[in-house]
Amino acid sequence: MTSCSMVSLCSLRVASCGIASPAAQKLNTGISRLSFPKDFIFGTSSAAAQYEGAAAEGGRKPSIWDHWCTLPDKIDDGSNPSITMDQYHRYKEDVRLLSDLGVNAYRFSISWTRLFPDGRVNPEGLAYYNSLINSLLEHGIKPFITIYHWDLPQALQESMGGWTNKEIVDKYVEFADICFAAFGDRVKHWITFNEPCHSLKYCYAEGIWPPGVKSDTEVYIAGHNTLLAHAAAVKRYREKYQAKQGGKIGISLDGFWYEPVYQIPQDVAASYRALDFNLGWFLSPVVYGYYPETMRANVGGRLPHFTEEEARNLMGSIDFLGLNYYTSMYVKDSPSDIWQPAGYNTDMRAKTLFDVDGIPIGPKAYETSWLSIVPWGFYKLLNYIKKEYNNPTIFVTENGFNQVHAPYKDSMDDNERIQYLTGHYTNMAQAIRDGADVQGHFIWSFLDCWEWKSGYTNHFGLFYVDRNTQDRLPKKSAYWVKNFLKPDRGLILPSATPPLVQPLGKNVALAPAQAVQAF
Ligand code: BGC
Repeated sequence: MTSCSMVSLCSLRVASCGIASPAAQKLNTGISRLSFPKDFIFGTSSAAAQYEGAAAEGGRKPSIWDHWCTLPDKIDDGSNPSITMDQYHRYKEDVRLLSDLGVNAYRFSISWTRLFPDGRVNPEGLAYYNSLINSLLEHGIKPFITIYHWDLPQALQESMGGWTNKEIVDKYVEFADICFAAFGDRVKHWITFNEPCHSLKYCYAEGIWPPGVKSDTEVYIAGHNTLLAHAAAVKRYREKYQAKQGGKIGISLDGFWYEPVYQIPQDVAASYRALDFNLGWFLSPVVYGYYPETMRANVGGRLPHFTEEEARNLMGSIDFLGLNYYTSMYVKDSPSDIWQPAGYNTDMRAKTLFDVDGIPIGPKAYETSWLSIVPWGFYKLLNYIKKEYNNPTIFVTENGFNQVHAPYKDSMDDNERIQYLTGHYTNMAQAIRDGADVQGHFIWSFLDCWEWKSGYTNHFGLFYVDRNTQDRLPKKSAYWVKNFLKPDRGLILPSATPPLVQPLGKNVALAPAQAVQAF
């Protein structure tokens, strides 16, 4: 890390000197820390494969992603996760930065192949996570741990076929048990899985993520085994650890909001199917113990069944829902898809769109980005979950904005990220006032990091990372967040503030006055 004395941009650089607050931060957004409950969690989010690096150090063994990146043309820029943000070596500095940012929580995941490679606990891995946890706690930052964020040991993929083999359930529980036993005295929030829908779709339906399977059936089998592993780990935690450790356990699911193109029964029904296939696939079993009816109807015999005991274990198996929200899409009924080959995407019989007749659902983060900025969709999704799933406690475990990769000087003035966060905080505050039990929010992401198939082509960080020096350089959004989190700053949103931005486009139910700007 470059020392402060060596850089002219000391106010912009972060080293041991902390984050200075330039005048540019005097943004009056009308939303502040005070718009949220006093004990609200404000954190940033990360994942081991995207942050740790040190892939071949400290006794760590390869994960499916390490292996996948050795194959040709799998990653957009040919990169791999062997170094990434080098958090394995730099965690102390990173914790100081987090503390300086003012967050009170940090979400990270445990690398299975670092802590428990080859079915034995690796003392160096254990020491690393203990130090990271202790360091966070010393700075008043609560660790939120994701037990599995997509980095299965390659050895388990090769020896037993990974998530499509039911025996993976026991392997996962063994690993989770080690995490609870080793860290549960200090860790009070556990997340069993990150975004199984998103990852399994790519891994087992589209075949663009490891292990690269394209199947209309295996995606549902892998999902089923993931759910069984979740339920079994929660059962273990509740029976063996929860009473004495006093923590909570949940799962992080990806949720898009799906806005019907037209307020006609067919499109409205299509939007509910899309919500079911995306969020309900996992949320319905962990709340109610069964798959959504739309999935059972459309997938038929390819969707596995839960035994009565499995359903009992699944029902109510979350103390909280981790919700990852990035964007929304339009959706319309697509019955013709029944003539296309079966598969996750066609089973839904709904077509998703980023725009209707050239009118986008929200501004794109950048031209080729998958992310449209749709804060009102966040509000709608939170409300939908409140109504459909018995108002669970929610921690928004990921929410963030991406920029295309650009040199340092072109990346720092990230006003759009500030607008994105402002819009999402505003909508989240409104959803809370309207009764949603949201207790925390984590920005994806703390640092610019390695983005799976996208490699380093786009970035979500509050901090730019110079990959030659590993310097962490705060973007304008980092200053904004720091300022936002000061308890005495900003304005409180009056509770009478009219709700939120409504969708653009051809939604016939909307009065023209509601089609306002996106933030
Ligand atoms: C994942 C993260 C990822 C982020 C941005 C989420 O789906 O959980 O690992 O980096 O999206 O693409």
